[in-house]
Amino acid sequence: FDDPDKLVDTDRGFVSREIFVDPDLYKEELEKVFTRAWLFIGHESLIPKPGDFYTTRMGEESVILCRDKQGIVHAFLNSCRHRGMKVCRYESGNTSLFTCPYHSWTYTTDGKLQGVPHFRTLYEGLDREANSLVSVAKLAIYKGTIWATWDKDAPDFITYLGDAKIHLDQALDCRDGRSGGSEVVGVHKWIFPANWKFAAENFLGDTYHNPSHRSVDLIGIGPSAAAGKKGRRDDELEKAQHVWISFPEGHGVHSAIQPEENEYIESFLDNPVLEQYFRHCFEERKRRLGEQARLLPFVGTIFPNTSYHGRQPRGLCAWHPHSPTSTEGWRFFLVDADAPQEAKDYLRRYYMRYSGPAGMTEQDDMENWLYATAASMGTVARRYPFNYQQSLGAWTKDHALGGTVSLQITEEIARGYYARWKSYLRGAAWDELLGVGGNLPQRAAE
Ligand code: FES
Repeated sequence: FDDPDKLVDTDRGFVSREIFVDPDLYKEELEKVFTRAWLFIGHESLIPKPGDFYTTRMGEESVILCRDKQGIVHAFLNSCRHRGMKVCRYESGNTSLFTCPYHSWTYTTDGKLQGVPHFRTLYEGLDREANSLVSVAKLAIYKGTIWATWDKDAPDFITYLGDAKIHLDQALDCRDGRSGGSEVVGVHKWIFPANWKFAAENFLGDTYHNPSHRSVDLIGIGPSAAAGKKGRRDDELEKAQHVWISFPEGHGVHSAIQPEENEYIESFLDNPVLEQYFRHCFEERKRRLGEQARLLPFVGTIFPNTSYHGRQPRGLCAWHPHSPTSTEGWRFFLVDADAPQEAKDYLRRYYMRYSGPAGMTEQDDMENWLYATAASMGTVARRYPFNYQQSLGAWTKDHALGGTVSLQITEEIARGYYARWKSYLRGAAWDELLGVGGNLPQRAAE
């Protein structure tokens, strides 16, 4: 596979199945995508106090996310500099030191090698600084979310986000339009036998797959606007103008724009606390954001493996690769930190019911991803690429929304995503990866 152009042909709309199953290509994308791109690694609310830590992942690597004694947030490779043992085997907690279980080297919460047993007799001249935990090259905290990259030459995180920022903001900000202010109310983690890109692509705005969720649509909590008469959320989506947007950095979103005249729809008449909270959020958001409040985030993927649900459920998903055909999904559910406890509890229950490994929609999706992966592994199956020709050429440039916009369901976003994936595999410079060069922005400007 020397030539990535043979794997991804976005002009004609074909992507080889090999990129979803081949072990060599998988190794290459770990090296060329996951060591360069900005990756979502956690949320500040998971480590609020000095000494708090949360073990996370970047690609296949285990990473310690930690707040040091001074309150500064760090991310380190979770691997001892002596023989590589995981220095932290817990999911989360609070500590003043990380003590390696193997031979007891100890590291401070800012990653420095502090203690080495028999240091004076056995390790004369050991350079402790050079044997600190390996830190990420760059770390960014954005509206409570924490992102990191191993590439010291990577652009800053906001530049990396590009125009996808205004859409991601809608998922991270409070329901009443205040900037930031969210907290994680729970994290679901589970492993499924499918390539990680199936999940990432699904959230780019693959609205075409909604028939998969017919059962939840029929009971009124599904993603399809066809279920519009059964719930507040779907009523809003039914009346809105839906937009599918591809960004030159490889990100993609499906958002919706509400009509100018839109009013709060009473939804919780049997629960005054919830009714008051959601009404307040709706009206306050409109007052604060004006025209911008009409933009409803639905789903999106920030290249390569971070997806979000913008409204209900609201949260971020990281699709961590384990192998070409195995992925660990992490869903971080978000609520407003200062919401009434009753609203937090209601949303937490809703999120669990709707998504996650035991939720009603995620199971539909996973069944598709794992069968598609399994059915693409055969010698004959691998000769036939996937078809990405939907709505070829049906896009326009919209400066208010950013990116390349389609008003109809489109695989243009997936084509853009795989065009960018191909650029990473070619080892493209950051100028190209951010859309200054490459085929996608040129097409958008035509
Ligand atoms: Fe950690 Fe030896 S592997 S102290």
